[in-house]
Amino acid sequence: MTDCVALIDKLYSTHHLDKAEYSALIKNGISHSDYLFTLSDKVRRENYGDDVYLRGLIEFTSYCKNDCYYCGIRCSNKQAERYRLDKEQILECCGTGYELGFRTFVLQGGEDPFYTDDIICDIVSSIKKDYPDCAVTLSIGEKSEESYRRYYESGADRYLLRHETADYEHYSKLHPVGLSAENRQNCLKTLKKIGFQTGAGFMVGSPYQTAENLADDMLFLEELKPEMVGIGPFIPHHATPFANMPQGTVELTLFMLGLVRLALPDVLLPATTALGTIHPQGRELALKSGANVVMPNLSPVSVRKKYLLYDNKICTGDESAQCRMCLQKRVESAGYRIVESRGDHAAYNERK
Ligand code: SAM
Ligand code: FES
Repeated sequence: MTDCVALIDKLYSTHHLDKAEYSALIKNGISHSDYLFTLSDKVRRENYGDDVYLRGLIEFTSYCKNDCYYCGIRCSNKQAERYRLDKEQILECCGTGYELGFRTFVLQGGEDPFYTDDIICDIVSSIKKDYPDCAVTLSIGEKSEESYRRYYESGADRYLLRHETADYEHYSKLHPVGLSAENRQNCLKTLKKIGFQTGAGFMVGSPYQTAENLADDMLFLEELKPEMVGIGPFIPHHATPFANMPQGTVELTLFMLGLVRLALPDVLLPATTALGTIHPQGRELALKSGANVVMPNLSPVSVRKKYLLYDNKICTGDESAQCRMCLQKRVESAGYRIVESRGDHAAYNERK
């Protein structure tokens, strides 16, 4: 019989388990979630107090050249409504966000060749010029080392690129030929090498995922040591090949957040919109399990429903100010407080 409490204690004190230990804990440990969350909340408080950082998410393009089987804006989804925001519209979102206290802007989109490196660099440097006290995060997929370097030189501070699943075979069940786990993982290593605060991550409950896959995800994170980890449940989208697959559970998603907090004590860990979509208190529960970041939507209301990665996505009808205030209340009700700062990774603050 697995002694889950002993495994949680071991992860807490050594920040490491082996694959068999992680697998056993993920398979058998959910009933010990409360114990895990006592420790993961303790560790988050030791590293970041009760601070919760804000990231303003600007979903600037719903065009994508990729065809990930799970994703609502995949290129084969002919029903998806497509839009692009230009530099002026993006700067307008930043202006609204700045007034609301945001000091990080996350530019996220499909892999859209319309935005050449020149265009991305121009957008990034314009934001940094207008808002020099803000961090810019890019989340625009797999690019060459040269492109990543150019983005960094134009002022981008951080880059989010979920590894999706560390297991090569599982990766190939979620993506068409041409997309590989190897390339995605190499991109992450390159981003770290260049100096980006780098975010990896994965969906919980993605089709065909096993406890061993999740164990490999944990080992991958232990090795990469990303500054940020994005974890949310898989949620089916009606016009994708995975329309009829079951969604990930709240319980396992929270459990994985707790494990990540123990493995990487000072990681920046968002309470994701996907978790808020499958449970009305999903984000509050995530904060209590070790998360310390929230990412309210700053995209113009007119386009929000078009960036539909999965069904029933929340916050698609609200103004940015409403989202900001709603999250403030949620964070406070969970016992934490929003801090209006860039919210850099602890090690980055020490380096400066
Ligand atoms: N194109 C960029 C990239 O590849 O990283 C950023 C956009 S992509 C839509 C952002 C993330 O959305 C993905 O990394 C994936 O984990 C998540 N995602 C996509 N479809 C999803 C779904 N059906 N359920 C939950 N998360 C999903
Ligand atoms: Fe490209 Fe989802 S398939 S963003």
